[in-house]
Amino acid sequence: MRKALVVGNWKMNGVRSDATDLATAIKTGFEDNGADIAVCVPSVYFSEIDSLLAGTSILLGAQNVAEHDSGAYTGEISAKMLNDFDCHFAIVGHSERRSYYNDSNESVARRYSQSLSQGITPILCVGETLEERESNETFSVIDQQLDAVIDLAGIESFAKAVIAYEPVWAIGTGKVATDDQAQEVHAYIRNKLAQLDAGIAENMQILYGGSVKPNNATALFAMPDIDGGLIGGASLDGDAFLSIYQSTK
Ligand code: PGA
Repeated sequence: MRKALVVGNWKMNGVRSDATDLATAIKTGFEDNGADIAVCVPSVYFSEIDSLLAGTSILLGAQNVAEHDSGAYTGEISAKMLNDFDCHFAIVGHSERRSYYNDSNESVARRYSQSLSQGITPILCVGETLEERESNETFSVIDQQLDAVIDLAGIESFAKAVIAYEPVWAIGTGKVATDDQAQEVHAYIRNKLAQLDAGIAENMQILYGGSVKPNNATALFAMPDIDGGLIGGASLDGDAFLSIYQSTK
């Protein structure tokens, strides 16, 4: 039985006091229901949030990680640096990174491997744009995004990773994929992995992301291949985020 997981992605929002207030609100209101929960916070606040969440079961994550081990890469944050903290997850390949910062499938695969090399669980984001969906390219786009990682890191690596299906057209737009649309792609991903390793596919946590809110989370999370969510906007409100967490099956 797969454990559900709900992850907040705070993106580049707020300032220090907002980050500590939000972490405090989540910590205070958190009631463990057996599912996992994590927050991917801006890395400048890592130290503070790490201390604030110490001793709780709310896990800490990063929103990105460098594709190189160390060196002259101005502005980047390495997996080793993240490992100075109790960093459990690193998001790689978020569509905002792919589209605004040109993170290619190959670069995402290297970030994924860097994360794993430090024992940090990568949350590999995949998903199609509206244009790709409308031209029936959803599955081929997802194939390419997954294949780059499988080629570099191998199918075995997925035993220590999480996948997030995030249709680009649903991120921050209020346009959530229907439960069936999301389930169809989740099943496709699981089936694709199953062709390489049935055990890994069965245990793989596949999250849905894109306009998940307290009022749509229960139905999405009830779908057989949806194991939780990657939450953007609604994760900035402690009550909304915790309500989504409580929607896990
Ligand atoms: P959203 O973002 O919940 O605001 O749509 C999801 C994400 O970008 O991970």
